[in-house]
Amino acid sequence: MGECANYPSLAGRCVFITGGATGIGAAMVEAFARQHSQVAFVDLDSTAAESLCDRLESETGTRPWFQQVDVTDVPALQNSIKQAVNDLGPLQALVNNAANDRRHSPKEVTPQSWRDCMAINLDATFFAAQVAAELMGEANSEAKKQGGSIINFSSINALLGPSNMPGYVAAKAGIVGLSKALAADYGDADIRVNAILPGWVVTQRQLDTWLTPEAEADWMEQVSLKQRLLPEEVASLALFLAADDSRMITGQSFTIDGGRT
Ligand SMILES: NC(=O)c1ccc[n+]([C@@H]2O[C@H](COP(=O)([O-])OP(=O)(O)OC[C@H]3O[C@@H](n4cnc5c(N)ncnc54)[C@H](O)[C@@H]3O)[C@@H](O)[C@H]2O)c1
Repeated sequence: MGECANYPSLAGRCVFITGGATGIGAAMVEAFARQHSQVAFVDLDSTAAESLCDRLESETGTRPWFQQVDVTDVPALQNSIKQAVNDLGPLQALVNNAANDRRHSPKEVTPQSWRDCMAINLDATFFAAQVAAELMGEANSEAKKQGGSIINFSSINALLGPSNMPGYVAAKAGIVGLSKALAADYGDADIRVNAILPGWVVTQRQLDTWLTPEAEADWMEQVSLKQRLLPEEVASLALFLAADDSRMITGQSFTIDGGRT
């Protein structure tokens, strides 16, 4: 990828990212840090998170704010967002990225495993948005309107409906509807809500788990752009949606999949 765009409206502004330790989340932590945003993130994986913070601190001079939080623990998640705003200043953007795409056949789903799947893939997004909107609303009423942007991660699987992940697909389809609904609820406070639907993004975990040469050849046959989709490219879309450059865009879903759908 060539040089990335520069978004002056992101400099110095607080951006909160869930699941920022690895994969697309880590690419977004880095991308916002390089825009000189005040980056806060949470993740379960504190080892990967601390090593990302070490690297970014040595490369940019600023250490991202990190807390080890399970986003399915709603009070802990909401308190963490409040704490980050307290430490770093008014919230410009929330990126709801953490998810779990564990495969499961319909047969093996139990009421508890279904609830667990919704807790990570849908509920956390709503409850993070709820507290973020409250904080963005408070900041807005103080003086000048500053607005805010909430970016929710869906997936092209919400459109394609592949087998062996009914809970994940249902949750990711729910994210599209939720983003539209919250855009309507929060528009008066100048808070925008949009969804990103990535295609197959080549993260380390995908390389380790699913990306066999056969599977990749199959994917390449189905896309228009015959190149790997990288986490950095998804991060570029998140930067645009968080910045003031997209200030009249809300309630939309953005697919980034090299032309798969
Ligand atoms: N990678 C892809 O091909 C792809 C495709 C479509 C959509 N997406 C979506 O993009 C987003 C990021 O994808 P990814 O591949 O980087 O995800 P990933 O599963 O590799 O990483 C998610 C991060 O969230 C963290 N996490 C998981 N459960 C958590 C919890 N309960 N609390 C806190 N942190 C937790 C993980 O430790 C990890 O760092 C997800 O919403 C995913 O559904 C990814």
